[in-house]
This record gives sequence, C-alpha cells and structure tokens, in this order.
Amino acid sequence: MLSFTSSIFANSQLAVDHGCINCHGIPLRGEAPSFERLAEKLGKFKGDETALTKFVAKYRMGEPFEHIAAHERLSPEAATALLNWLAEGGK
Ligand code: HEC
Repeated sequence: MLSFTSSIFANSQLAVDHGCINCHGIPLRGEAPSFERLAEKLGKFKGDETALTKFVAKYRMGEPFEHIAAHERLSPEAATALLNWLAEGGK
C-alpha cells in the first residue's frame, strides 16, 4: 500500500506513529481532549490553509497551553499533516 505519511494526507496511522494516541486515544490521559473533540475544534481550519499554518506554528511552540514534548518535537511537515488530518475530521 502507498504511504502518505510524509504528505498532507495524514491518517490515523500517523497519529499512532507519533504517539498522539497515547494521550488523545481511549483511555484519555490527563487533560488531553479526544480526537473527536480536537477534530471539532480544528474543523474551523478546514480549507483555510493560512489559518491552519498559523495554528501549526503556535501549536509547535506549545502555546497557548503547557509545553507538551510530543507536540513540540514534531517537524513542521508532520505537524501540518496531523493537524490537517484533524481539520478534515480525524478519521
Ligand atoms: C503526553 C500527552 C500528549 C501527547 C502524546 C499528545 N498530546 Fe496533544 N494534547 C495533550 C493535552 C494535555 C492537550 C490539552 C492541553 C490544554 O488544552 O491545555 C493537548 C492538546 C492538543 C491539541 C489542541 C491544541 C489547541 O490549541 O487546543 C491538539 C491539536 C493536539 N493536542 C494534537 C496532538 C497530536 C497531533 C499529537 C501527536 C503528535 C499529540 N497531540 C500528542 C496531550 C498530549
């Protein structure tokens, strides 16, 4: 099968590969919102590349919340792919 992990077409496998699922999967860890909630929140960036790009930058700096290593160590490409995946519904 083709792998799109380095492209903007991320999928849930990318979330597994980057350990996102350890906090945002079931059971949720600590204060982490579920993927459904994140998808709901990021849905507003769907189709708005400029807004998403701005959010990716903020997200990678660990703002506005506490610093989370799993967020900050993402490459810009991986962060964009993952956040775009969530904006598209996180399925
Ligand atoms: C160690 C646990 C942990 C891991 C691993 C983790 N997160 Fe998070 N994430 C959190 C927590 C906790 C919050 C909520 C922080 C807050 O709202 O104060 C959060 C918030 C978010 C948000 C919301 C940002 C916002 O502005 O509301 C997104 C999007 C997100 N995570 C995506 C991811 C992705 C993608 C991955 C995989 C690379 C990931 N997270 C890995 C704990 C984690």
